[in-house]
Amino acid sequence: MSREEKLAKLSEKREMVLNGGGPKRIEKQHQSGKFTARERIEKLLDQGSFVELDQFVVHRGTEFGMADVNAPGEGVVTGYGTILGRLVYLYAQDFTVLGGSLGEMHAAKICKVMDLAIKMGAPFIGINDSGGARIQEGIDALNGYGEIFKRNTMASGVIPQISVIMGPCAGGAVYSPALTDFIFMTDQTSQMFITGPQVIKAVTGEEVSGESLGGALAHNQMSGNAHFFAADEDECFWQIKKLLTYLPLNNLDPVPLVPTNDPADRMDEILETVVPDDANKAYNMMDVITALADDGEFFEIQPHYAKNILIGFMRLNGMSVGVIANQPKVMAGCLDINCSDKASRFIRFCDAFGIPLLTIVDTPGYLPGVEQEHGGIIRHGAKLLYAYSEATVPKIQLITRKAYGGAYLAMCAKSLGADVAIAWPSAQIAVMGAQGAANIVFRKEIEGAENPNEKREEMIGEYEEKFSNPYCAAARGLADMVIEPEKTRYYLIKSLESLMTKRESRPGKKHGNMPL
Ligand code: HXC
Repeated sequence: MSREEKLAKLSEKREMVLNGGGPKRIEKQHQSGKFTARERIEKLLDQGSFVELDQFVVHRGTEFGMADVNAPGEGVVTGYGTILGRLVYLYAQDFTVLGGSLGEMHAAKICKVMDLAIKMGAPFIGINDSGGARIQEGIDALNGYGEIFKRNTMASGVIPQISVIMGPCAGGAVYSPALTDFIFMTDQTSQMFITGPQVIKAVTGEEVSGESLGGALAHNQMSGNAHFFAADEDECFWQIKKLLTYLPLNNLDPVPLVPTNDPADRMDEILETVVPDDANKAYNMMDVITALADDGEFFEIQPHYAKNILIGFMRLNGMSVGVIANQPKVMAGCLDINCSDKASRFIRFCDAFGIPLLTIVDTPGYLPGVEQEHGGIIRHGAKLLYAYSEATVPKIQLITRKAYGGAYLAMCAKSLGADVAIAWPSAQIAVMGAQGAANIVFRKEIEGAENPNEKREEMIGEYEEKFSNPYCAAARGLADMVIEPEKTRYYLIKSLESLMTKRESRPGKKHGNMPL
């Protein structure tokens, strides 16, 4: 072959790969509201930054007529590129080629970029759009999934891993996303389930559509499996890019600093009035968070799930901070099973990647109820204690109002290792609320009084005066500062700056045994 002929062959082979499953299947993909794998990569990465690997990998299947089947790119596009100038490795399954199904070599392509991402210390992004294990390849396909799961686990805590669901993701295939740090889903075009609607109907008789069983809303609102809900793919790409701005590239990389013009000593008057005088009145913790954050920006994670706790990222004087905050507007900010799971996993993510934690507390306690007890609130609630105690990143606790009992401890109390605990004058740091406490402690006095109701009110007042304030905690050094709320941003930034050189180690061990 001449040089020209060799180049022509390369170009012909490449053209075939770039065409994926061909115009008809690409058209079908577009009609179903989805971009192709290549279009997705182009939209997600910085323009022109994508470098593709393994374009010419071919499958080795021979059964069920596979010997004659041409699968361009093996149904998955892999490689690396940059997002806002920072390196990422990624794959995008190509549904137009054998339904994006995962065979031995498809999995090998994914594993290769995972290995590179781990070695290079760069975030890994997987765009899922697949019919699952390639049925014709049987156990080779299953083995491929196992190889991916193992790498997901090895990469956990080393590089941020992001899963993007933009089509079907069914059966055991869901476990790769489940092992990663963040799952993004697109409305109406993505579905995740272990067993689909037909199997469920056959086994349990329940009738359910794919969307309501495992669509973006179901996983963002009900199961808590997903972290981000996007109206369409474009919005999803925006969310991924935004998330990455808060994250380091790996566990040894410093957290990115984004300079701001928002003054570090900015006072916000809304903080003076945000907590109502009536302790039983709700308020929106989001008002507190946005008043404190650089430029009022809070990037919320899992906003549709377990809304009694808020988690997400903000910046303080340019530094990324992971925020965990009770939401008094929902269930009075009580801690329950779902919010414990939601917050604990986030705390562990931040700790693994060196992102400081800010915990904002206003919770009356754990949610009472048989459902919660039998659902395992003891085990689930323990995750919070474990995650905070284990975390060695800078930990700041800010108490705006109620911090009662076990829930006070579970929200990063000093005893669990908060480096700085700040309380507002409205803080009530106590073993329980004054009402409950007075009824128990002064039961005899109340029952024996001429006017029990009057006596009860008097005793509640006495208990409140004594314990429902920040000063008992401050007297023991359990609140380092009691401050005017409007100065909170200033003190948070000061605290954070002083903590940046924090070093704390834990006893050497293989690994702990977190309550799961
Ligand atoms: C091989 C597959 C495939 C698969 C889809 N295709 N899934 N080929 N193995 N798993 C092929 C189809 O045959 C079809 O080829 C093309 O992809 C597009 O699929 P359609 O069915 O036409 O698309 P659509 O109507 O959009 O339906 C998508 C779908 C459906 C819902 C995903 O294809 C489906 O139900 N697929 C099977 C899902 C499944 O049971 N997977 C195995 C699960 S077991 P042609 O040539 O006709 O266009 C599993 C275990 C993993 O995943 C365990 C890991 C631990």
